[in-house]
Amino acid sequence: MTQTSEPDSNLKDRSLQGRKSFFTLALLEWNQIHNRRQMPWKGEKDPYKIWISEIILQQTRVEQGWTYYERFIKKFPNIKALASAPEEEIFKLWEGLGYYSRCRNLIASARILHNNYQDKFPETYQEILELKGIGPYTAAAIASFAFNLPHAVVDGNVFRVISRFFGIEKPINSNEGRKFFVALSEELLDSQNPAAYNQAIMDFGATVCKPVSPLCKECPFKLKCSAYRKNKVAELPIKTNSISKKTRWLNYYLIRCGDGLYIKKRTEKDIWQNLYEFFLVESKSEMCDEQLKNELSSIVSRKQSKMVNISGTYKQKLTHQDLFVRFIELTIDKPIAGLKDFELVKFDQLKRFPFPKLLISFLLEKNVNLSQD
Ligand code: ADE
Repeated sequence: MTQTSEPDSNLKDRSLQGRKSFFTLALLEWNQIHNRRQMPWKGEKDPYKIWISEIILQQTRVEQGWTYYERFIKKFPNIKALASAPEEEIFKLWEGLGYYSRCRNLIASARILHNNYQDKFPETYQEILELKGIGPYTAAAIASFAFNLPHAVVDGNVFRVISRFFGIEKPINSNEGRKFFVALSEELLDSQNPAAYNQAIMDFGATVCKPVSPLCKECPFKLKCSAYRKNKVAELPIKTNSISKKTRWLNYYLIRCGDGLYIKKRTEKDIWQNLYEFFLVESKSEMCDEQLKNELSSIVSRKQSKMVNISGTYKQKLTHQDLFVRFIELTIDKPIAGLKDFELVKFDQLKRFPFPKLLISFLLEKNVNLSQD
């Protein structure tokens, strides 16, 4: 029994091994001959700049990330500059990217590198991984791009390219699936040339093996691509619907007094920690206009205030929560005494303060000038 099945499985192993080697070689060849993608961090060897680019790119698409990256590097060209800058200035540059915890981690790690590593990046994967906000993906990117260490990056591009080419149907957001993709990625990596390999697979995923409308017709892998041959390109990679989301209703009162607006720094340890916001009433469910007006009496007497506008509902979908946000604009005659932790800030000064993206969008809609001089 064993004797008859062995040659078969050996054959299978050999053919899988052959597909893996083909994949790596074909990818590097595609990179050399066809990859025309240009980005400011490509080929960069400075681990600090690579770090900044990777963290920004976890937040946004390349086109938008490009501007943020250049502004960031111009203002904070190295670890020392970032570690010694006032937090508010850093948050201001980060504004609009969202997930401010990433920015907080960036600041914390810059300070660790400044205090414990003489403003230099450590040169081993393990030490890089120990820094705050640096997970296996970012550590592999820094280790490979800056120091040519053999660590494979595993991001959305990698899941997509590999799952399609090898026809892997394991969910990428399950523990088992993740482990499988990580192990396969390490096998596929060209350990002599990890920087080129990692950059190539990301570029290939972003420009050819795209999430939607992939360029299968002109793909050099197509004849050997499992998903293409089985008509499963659109189905892969597989993601299970397992994240349970919280829904929150945030009602923001914009209290205007003369040419000023009341704002407050958030101290809650959440995604918006250290950003500024308006007077907030969070409710368990949607509040009707009447309820929103009634809430006002807890802030200021009706006689002293004038309701200007109640906005529609703005929605923002985050990974772990869906936000439903309304803005209630009112004016008051005299400053409110005892509005704890709030500052009355002149409209032309609001640009100095970092706000969550959704609040910026609202202020911009109201023609508040927030551009940096
Ligand atoms: N996405 C994240 N990092 C990237 C990189 N270095 N190049 C291209 N796309 C990326």
